Amino acid sequence: MAGSWSDTIRRLTGMGGRAGSGGGPRARVLAVAAQKGGVGKTTTAVNLAVAFARYEGLRTLLLDLDGQGHVGAALASQFTDGDTTTLSDVLLGHGRDVDELVHPTRIAGLWLVPSDKGLAATEGILAGRIGKEFLLRGAIRRARERFDVVVIDCPPNLGNLTLNALTASDACLVPCDMSVLAMGGVADLLGVVETLRDRLDHDVRIAGIVPTRVDRRNARVTAAVMEGLDTAWGDLVCRTRIPVSSALARAQMDGVNVFDYDATSPGAVAYRELASEVATRLALRVAPPAAVLHAAG
Ligand SMILES: Nc1ncnc2c1ncn2[C@@H]1O[C@H](COP(=O)(O)OP(=O)(O)OP(=O)(O)O)[C@@H](O)[C@H]1O
Ligand SMILES: [Mg+2]
Repeated sequence: MAGSWSDTIRRLTGMGGRAGSGGGPRARVLAVAAQKGGVGKTTTAVNLAVAFARYEGLRTLLLDLDGQGHVGAALASQFTDGDTTTLSDVLLGHGRDVDELVHPTRIAGLWLVPSDKGLAATEGILAGRIGKEFLLRGAIRRARERFDVVVIDCPPNLGNLTLNALTASDACLVPCDMSVLAMGGVADLLGVVETLRDRLDHDVRIAGIVPTRVDRRNARVTAAVMEGLDTAWGDLVCRTRIPVSSALARAQMDGVNVFDYDATSPGAVAYRELASEVATRLALRVAPPAAVLHAAG
């Protein structure tokens, strides 16, 4: 596995220019995607976006592309179906741009595009459309000009919505919990990224594979999975590991981000570190804060 992925890793970790660069869109778009359910995609997307806004000073847009609506719930968003134009409308060509769906949140520097319950059905309708993989990419153009970073929470599969997120994105962050199934899902996702590059000429960088739900009490399994990740994907694996942290689950249930729930909890500390690491990996800011340099040293 290590050998077959080594060329891929070199290509995917390159610190090349922005996709579609040449004075084009301003925001970096980052899809948080994984094939397996429950690995922490939404927890990662929400808390990373909050940390980008709060600690990295980035104008951040969080876009919920999963019809389950967990992002809205995690932020206690009041926006529900039928408010205005929905993401489904935009994807199906009935709205002009994602820009029309942007709502402010209670967190300074963070805006939200909520999902809608029709997204699962929309995914089926998209299957018959020409250029179905590029609808979000087209609809996100104006929104890109207003933000520094756009974070997309993807559904737990590699269907049309996730493909749309990947073709709209410059980079992809892949949460992987401590299970062999999740590791297999990472391989499948990286395969899709390769296919997009080869067949659709769209280059998505891998911003990182994030080990999630790392449980010290389950040391043997954790060590085996971590070794498997390192052997297979080396530098693609983020330094930051997200531990099992009850604050993350409780915060999500209370509709707050983990920093407002308990900024000193292991989950909050880890997501703040992850935001810093990803901001550095994607060159979202010019100079990393001193704390990152110390940690990296
Ligand atoms: N590091 C963690 N420690 C403890 N609980 C966690 C952690 N990460 C996520 N959880 C909890 O696990 C559940 C699943 O997490 P989450 O919703 O982020 O996964 P997901 O990959 O988005 O799931 P889905 O595939 O359904 O979209 C949630 O209840 C969440 O609060
Ligand atoms: Mg989710």
